[in-house]
Amino acid sequence: MSNASRGAVGYDELAVLRLLAIEGALDGEIKTSCSDLGERVDASTQTASRRLQHLEDAGLLERDTVSDGQWLEITDDGERSLRNEYEEYRRIFEGVARVALLGAVTSGMGEGRHYITLPGYMEQFRERLGYEPFPGTLNAELTDASMRRRGALEAMDPIPIDGWEDEERTYGPAVCYPATVARSGEGDAPAYPDAHVIAPERTHHDEGQLEVIAPDKLRDELDLEDDDHVTITVRGV
Ligand code: CDP
Repeated sequence: MSNASRGAVGYDELAVLRLLAIEGALDGEIKTSCSDLGERVDASTQTASRRLQHLEDAGLLERDTVSDGQWLEITDDGERSLRNEYEEYRRIFEGVARVALLGAVTSGMGEGRHYITLPGYMEQFRERLGYEPFPGTLNAELTDASMRRRGALEAMDPIPIDGWEDEERTYGPAVCYPATVARSGEGDAPAYPDAHVIAPERTHHDEGQLEVIAPDKLRDELDLEDDDHVTITVRGV
């Protein structure tokens, strides 16, 4: 994994971040001292202090130093870094049957609506996905780590959507993967279970963009606006 995907910190720093998360620093501020922390990660006070500084510089941790220690809280970016690690482990131990991709909601140029509602596709969605999609695609701009993880979808068997043609032109084939969509970082928030990732079958189409279709408007179902973070969990068929 590149530094960028960990928010430019190393594994030693991530180990500190994980420890702070175990202590509760995801849910609010916790108080600790560098000597305490050093002992717990088997490092000197100075080393512990340096790691905290790196985490703060990378925007993964907020710190408030007081006379007898410091108050620490993990930021949203910090939580995303930990969640990335978690997804990697999930892949190692649970196989490729699930791939969780993280991204930010974006607006496209209104093309999704046009393609999704074409009768040649709509008929197949009804038959093969079992529903008539909301007219449009929800676009997510993937994080760097998720962009790389996206390749794992190739090991899954997608639902094929055939190409077709009318008098004027031909429309290319696509593939759909069943997926769940949830707001990131809200483990208890209800996820939307019945969506599909849709992608053109062969393309060098922007790998950083993921498009999702669903029977309902996901922005309404999940209360999403542009730049909100979502986790799209793709399941094997
Ligand atoms: O291309 P653009 O994102 O502008 O729009 P679209 O694909 O035509 O979709 C219309 C709107 O519905 C967009 O704001 C999508 O993000 C949203 N949408 C949604 O919330 N849930 C879906 N299942 C499909 C689209």
